[in-house]
Amino acid sequence: MQTSTLLKPGNYVNDAAFDWLYPEKIQQLSRRHWTPISIAKTAARFLANEPGKKILDIGSGVGKFCLVGARFYPESTFFGVEQRESLYQQAMEAREVMQLRNTHFIHGNFTELDLSAYDGFYFYNSFFENLVDQDQIDNTVEQSTSLYNYYSRYLFKQLEKCASGTRLVTFHSLEDEVPPCYQLVDTSMDLMLKMWIRR
Ligand SMILES: C[S@@+](CC[C@H](N)C(=O)[O-])C[C@H]1O[C@@H](n2cnc3c(N)ncnc32)[C@H](O)[C@@H]1O
Repeated sequence: MQTSTLLKPGNYVNDAAFDWLYPEKIQQLSRRHWTPISIAKTAARFLANEPGKKILDIGSGVGKFCLVGARFYPESTFFGVEQRESLYQQAMEAREVMQLRNTHFIHGNFTELDLSAYDGFYFYNSFFENLVDQDQIDNTVEQSTSLYNYYSRYLFKQLEKCASGTRLVTFHSLEDEVPPCYQLVDTSMDLMLKMWIRR
C-alpha cells in the first residue's frame, strides 16, 4: 500500500515519485534541469503571498514548478511559458493527469508575452543553456552567447518596468537579468535560491 502510493505519478513526497508523471527520458533530465519539489514549494510560498496572484515561470520546461505551486497554493494562478514544444506538451499532459485548473502553459518565447500582466516571476536560470555546450536538454533550439545577452537584457528591461511590489524568485541565476530596483529580501543557505521585491 505504502509503495504504490509513493510511486503514484505526480506524488509530491519526493522528486523521484513526482517525476513518474513523465517519460523516462524526461525523468533523466530532472536533476539537472527541473526544479526540486522543496525549492518549488519555497519559491511558490513567497510568490503566492496573497490570494489571486498571477505568477509566471519564465522557461517552464515540463511544468514542475507550476504544478507544485498550483497544488500547494490553489488561490493563485501559475503560468508557464516554454519555447520547446515537446516540453510544453509534457506539461499539458501532466496538468491533465493532476487535474489542476489553476495552472496554464503557453508554448512560445517569453519575449512574446506582456510581463506587466503578472504579479510575480520564477526564473530557473533559463538562458544559461546558451553559455554551455554540454548537458543540453536537446538541440531543437538555437543557442549562442549573443542570445544569452539578448534574453537577459530583454528580461532586465521588462522587470524594470514592472510595478512596485512585483516579486521575483531566481534559482541558480547569474543575476544578469535582475535590475538594481529589485531588493533582495531572502535567500537559501547556499545562496542558490533568492527572493526579490521590486521597490
Ligand atoms: C532550467 S529549465 C527550468 C524548467 C522549469 N522552470 C523548472 O524549474 O522545472 C529552463 C527552461 O527554459 C526554457 N527556455 C529557455 N529560454 C527560453 C525562452 N527564451 N523562452 C521560453 N522558454 C525558454 C528552456 O527550453 C528550458 O525548458
